[in-house]
Amino acid sequence: MVVPGSQHKMYHPPKDLQKDAHVPDFDRYLELYRKSIEEPDVFWKEVASDFYWKKPPTGQILQYNFDVTKGNIFVKCMEGATTNMCYNVLDRNVKDKNLGERVAFYWEGNSPAHHEAITYSQLLGQVCRCSNTLKQMGVRKGDRVAIYLPMIPELVYTMLACTRIGAVHSIVFAGFSAESLCERIMDSQCSILVTADGVYRGEKLINLKQIADEALEKCREKASATVTRCLVVKHLRTQDADVSNKLQTPWDAACDVCWEEVMGQVSEQCEPEWLDAEDPLFILYTSGSTGKPKGVLHTVAGYLLYTSLTFKCVFDHQPDDVYWCTADIGWITGHSYITYGPLANGATSVLFVGIPVHPHVGRFWEVIEKYRVTKFYTAPTAIRLLMKYGLDPVQKYDLSSLRILGTVGEPINPEAWHWYHEVIGQKRCPVVDTFWQTETGGHVLTPLPAATPLKPGSATFPFFGVEPTILNEHGEELEGEAEGYLVFRRPWPGIMRTLHGNQERFESTYFKKFPGFYVTGMGCRRDRDGYYWIAGRIDDMINVSGHLLSTAEVEASLTDHGAVAEAAVVSRPHTVKGECLYCFVTLKDCREFNRTLVDELKRRVREKIGPIATPDFIQNAPALPKTRSGKIMRRVLRQIARNEKDLGDLSTMADPKVVEVLFNHRCETAS
Ligand code: PRX
Repeated sequence: MVVPGSQHKMYHPPKDLQKDAHVPDFDRYLELYRKSIEEPDVFWKEVASDFYWKKPPTGQILQYNFDVTKGNIFVKCMEGATTNMCYNVLDRNVKDKNLGERVAFYWEGNSPAHHEAITYSQLLGQVCRCSNTLKQMGVRKGDRVAIYLPMIPELVYTMLACTRIGAVHSIVFAGFSAESLCERIMDSQCSILVTADGVYRGEKLINLKQIADEALEKCREKASATVTRCLVVKHLRTQDADVSNKLQTPWDAACDVCWEEVMGQVSEQCEPEWLDAEDPLFILYTSGSTGKPKGVLHTVAGYLLYTSLTFKCVFDHQPDDVYWCTADIGWITGHSYITYGPLANGATSVLFVGIPVHPHVGRFWEVIEKYRVTKFYTAPTAIRLLMKYGLDPVQKYDLSSLRILGTVGEPINPEAWHWYHEVIGQKRCPVVDTFWQTETGGHVLTPLPAATPLKPGSATFPFFGVEPTILNEHGEELEGEAEGYLVFRRPWPGIMRTLHGNQERFESTYFKKFPGFYVTGMGCRRDRDGYYWIAGRIDDMINVSGHLLSTAEVEASLTDHGAVAEAAVVSRPHTVKGECLYCFVTLKDCREFNRTLVDELKRRVREKIGPIATPDFIQNAPALPKTRSGKIMRRVLRQIARNEKDLGDLSTMADPKVVEVLFNHRCETAS
């Protein structure tokens, strides 16, 4: 690593932030980084000493094999220790640290009129009740619990209740379709589903229970129904009784259990289950390039150490902070940096169920003013969306409480970075551009706000314990200024342990290409100063508004329609979403390409995957460009989608005439 020079314009940490910071300058970062690499056991033991272990570890803190040629891939952290996640993030704060009266969450509703403050003691009580409820419903240690809930406090209660009793949660983002929910329930064989009657997302009312019922029905059709009971939060009833009455939540007394009724009948005390350090904590599905989602599995101890330390250092957590991460808990960002990381630090957070533009486009800024938010973490897509509305909606609110800004999920373009830094952060707040993945559990390349000079668009340097390197196509390590595959040479405590029920896919996806390394699937550049710059993905995944989508999965939804013979989906740049889906469809003989069909296809994708996967463009493709061996030439399709006329070498294409036909049918504007 090179100490930053002056090749690019850099933004240096503000002096006032450095005063009390956990990592106050770049030298201290380097010192700690070296220790984490040279003496990982000493380093992580110190981090672990903050937490409660029923039994201490018996061996080395981190053990692993990253080389497929030497045997199975594995990572173990704190072997031999026993502990409990929920105990560490709640009981420890309430009992040992005396933080019972501190607010854990300010819950803010879709409408500003709905809000609630939940202290650590109250949270512990609710989590214990929920634990007892789950136990009463038959959930035991090791069982999987599917959670399909919006951003309401009950989501946090349920996930922590699972961890308290040793059950494994599998949260499915409440914007996913019935089909996607069913697929995930079946893959992890969940025994219980927890959902809500419905939720408002802006003006839109979403009947979650109906979708959940459809998902369970689909599981039954596939003859592998594992869910025996469904626990239903009557969220709308408490928020808006009129709507709740009209909604007519479907109810099956044999299966459904009403949250509000059972929670009142159980005790507020529940002994935590002591788990092995490497027992599973949760499964979270992420898109896979073959189309079938991958059930990323994280375990108890390593994930606790890593999310707590990254949260503390990357947001430089201080006791009087009010922190707000706008992600949904249905994604890894919410798991690590709304629930586990902040609670492990005894932080006070905002939990927001709304959207950035309802009831007005200043909603984010209004919430920051209302709670005097000090640390704010969001996605570039949200910044680009809000930039469009200009300065007025921002200037109406007092944002002087802000001290640190963060971004995650996709590369941040310079224009958005500068707007975020200047307009929202008023040039006084560092912007931490955090690069990581569902698989990494927590930040792996990230600035530390008081230590790292920033270069807009760079995720800068590795976090403690993380050793990145860049490889060329032949797997050779590149030194100094270089561009190639981003890989990691060794594990850190928070890295995933396997893919649920599929160790073989785990090894072949992440470890086969370059034995000895975890392969991120990202291209990356390292500049002269040693800064890392994330480039695009090198597989067939598309990042829409910070959500990774598998082109294969979207293609499968399109070809599922009777009119479509073949489909190919590529990415096209989008001013707000970053990337969007551009779909080429070849129809079966005698089928006509028209508006109705386009609408039907879009609906099909929405139903199969969810609204986030709705294509922006669907183009008629009488034929697709293919190599002589029949492989679709996606590079060419990407160029057609972007209207780039210079297609380069087409010598491997079976029928080059296809290209002209496709240019003639190109969609100029979103369909
Ligand atoms: O492509 C990278 C992008 O998001 C992917 C991981 O997506 P997911 O597992 O859903 O987790 C998202 C939240 C961590 C990465 O492979 N990505 C994430 N953060 C950044 C990013 N791309 C560029 N810069 C980032 N800061």
